[in-house]
Amino acid sequence: MTTAMTIPRHGGAGGHAAVAARSRQVVKAYGAGETRVVALDHVDVDINRGQFTAIMGPSGSGKSTLMHCLAGLDTVTSGEIYLDETEITRLKDKKLTQLRRDRIGFIFQAFNLLPTLNALENITLPMDIAGRSPDAAWLNQVVETVGLADRLKHRPTQLSGGQQQRVGGGAGPGRAPRDHLR
Ligand SMILES: Nc1ncnc2c1ncn2[C@@H]1O[C@H](COP(=O)(O)OP(=O)(O)O)[C@@H](O)[C@H]1O
Ligand SMILES: [Mg+2]
Repeated sequence: MTTAMTIPRHGGAGGHAAVAARSRQVVKAYGAGETRVVALDHVDVDINRGQFTAIMGPSGSGKSTLMHCLAGLDTVTSGEIYLDETEITRLKDKKLTQLRRDRIGFIFQAFNLLPTLNALENITLPMDIAGRSPDAAWLNQVVETVGLADRLKHRPTQLSGGQQQRVGGGAGPGRAPRDHLR
């Protein structure tokens, strides 16, 4: 069985609603007929803002499926997913893409960095795609937080695994890196 636990983190909720993401009665089934697999079976979960949440369970129990559905990367079979008060399971593709780009940071198990771009360019890529220039103060804060000030000109292959992961963590939403799912 998959369970969720949360660990409080310094910084608190920062004035935003306490629950950043929630699922209500979410079912996710893959395939049909004899090969049908129910990966999520009526899952209710609240992901609090300002805390790290670990989703734990054996291999194949639906952890990745839950993360993908919560982040709007995959559709649900039934049920509802909310990010703040927005029900993302109702959104059309274009709105969902915008919301993902602006509001959610992803740290994948594979870091998904572009090999031809340096660390700084990888961090600002989501904003470049959105046609926004990064706010200097925000960028400084991100670079300081991920501790990569002396590696910004390095390409991913010139970085350690942990450094690559931190570039991936910096490459979050362009405005406010509030919610990171990994
Ligand atoms: N694209 C898919 N098609 C069919 N079955 C899938 C697919 N993705 C995952 N599954 C199945 O759904 C279940 C949950 O998978 P997953 O969420 O990846 O588990 P976890 O991340 O906990 O290891 C597994 O039984 C897996 O085989
Ligand atoms: Mg997984």
